[in-house]
Amino acid sequence: MSKPLIRVALIGQGFMGRAHSNAYRQAPHFFDLPYDLDCRLLCGRNRDVLEKTAATWGWSEISTDWRAAVARSDIDLVDIAVPNALHAPIALAAAEAGKMVLCEKPLATSAEEAVRMAEAARGVPNFVWFNYRRVPAVALCRRFIDEGRIGRVFHYRATYLQEWGNDPTRPPGWKTQRAEAGSGVLGDLLSHLVDTALWLNGPIREVCSLLETFATGRDVDDAVMLLARFANGSIGTFEATRYAVGYTNCNAFTIHGEGGMLRFNLEEMNWLEYAEAAAPRERRGIVRVPVANPSFWKPGHPIGYEHTFIAALADFLFGLSRGEAAHPTFEDGRETAGVLDAAARAAAARAWVPVTI
Ligand SMILES: NC(=O)c1ccc[n+]([C@@H]2O[C@H](COP(=O)([O-])OP(=O)(O)OC[C@H]3O[C@@H](n4cnc5c(N)ncnc54)[C@H](O)[C@@H]3O)[C@@H](O)[C@H]2O)c1
Repeated sequence: MSKPLIRVALIGQGFMGRAHSNAYRQAPHFFDLPYDLDCRLLCGRNRDVLEKTAATWGWSEISTDWRAAVARSDIDLVDIAVPNALHAPIALAAAEAGKMVLCEKPLATSAEEAVRMAEAARGVPNFVWFNYRRVPAVALCRRFIDEGRIGRVFHYRATYLQEWGNDPTRPPGWKTQRAEAGSGVLGDLLSHLVDTALWLNGPIREVCSLLETFATGRDVDDAVMLLARFANGSIGTFEATRYAVGYTNCNAFTIHGEGGMLRFNLEEMNWLEYAEAAAPRERRGIVRVPVANPSFWKPGHPIGYEHTFIAALADFLFGLSRGEAAHPTFEDGRETAGVLDAAARAAAARAWVPVTI
């Protein structure tokens, strides 16, 4: 029996354009999806590159005009994988046209923008690609927390460490320009940490932070440090930087609760580390648990970065077929934007500030 068809327009053909293209191609291979996917239109700026990318990933048509792409009546779903400043205009136009909207992170370049986007998308299925929620070890961490294994949480500690800011040979790109990126590591890296933290440990009430720009003449932050108070009474520290020489992509967190500790590092993404406070003294220590998603390979067979996007897309589609939202939604993205907004205000004021949005 044929399934309902979803006709997709993907806006952006860069790093995430490829990650998302792969997800549309691979999801039907691993999941018995409730829909058929039609990779109809790939949109970008450079026509030559577009033709090659479309041919590689099997997109039927190309376009260099996102407005025309969003307005097409034969498109059901608009997927946004372009620089951050374009997220809002494309998402608002897509939601207004009644399309489903999937958007890369950070949802917006400001909290006000995120609020508008969340409101506009209320009437259409929507999703934000905070893909790390789909790392099986992170999902198991959430399950352990829900099961009460670590009980009351005392500390939440997260770092996102990259080193490419320190490379003088690297050509400047949109990520280091406020007009296109909105912010530096705040939106790029801290947003990932905050989304995961809100999902695992609940709302953040107030923050204190410092932002630093090491590169001369750059108008975005290269590093951020954040102290946070969570609504559940726990306290958090967050650090994100592009100047952590020695680290390529270290997205990590540790949670200490009265019942134990949970620890994750993306650089070892197939493992979750767990310590149980009640274990007998002679067996107390950190256990390294291999974690898999059985939808992909058999236990013990590692998965990679790309599987987080495939699993996220599958979750969105299964949710859609049940009439349920898959998280993170634009509303979740707005909540993260509220914490980033507070972080920027706190740094400017050199003071503790409440999260207000
Ligand atoms: N979830 C993640 O792990 C993750 C990782 C990297 C980037 N991102 C996010 O994905 C988004 C894209 O980042 P990227 O690394 O793929 O960037 P990129 O520079 O590799 O690609 C950006 C793409 O946007 C296209 N583009 C720019 N302006 C356009 C316009 N006016 N019309 C049509 N296309 C246009 C470019 O042609 C290019 O294909 C950003 O919001 C970024 O924060 C998410």
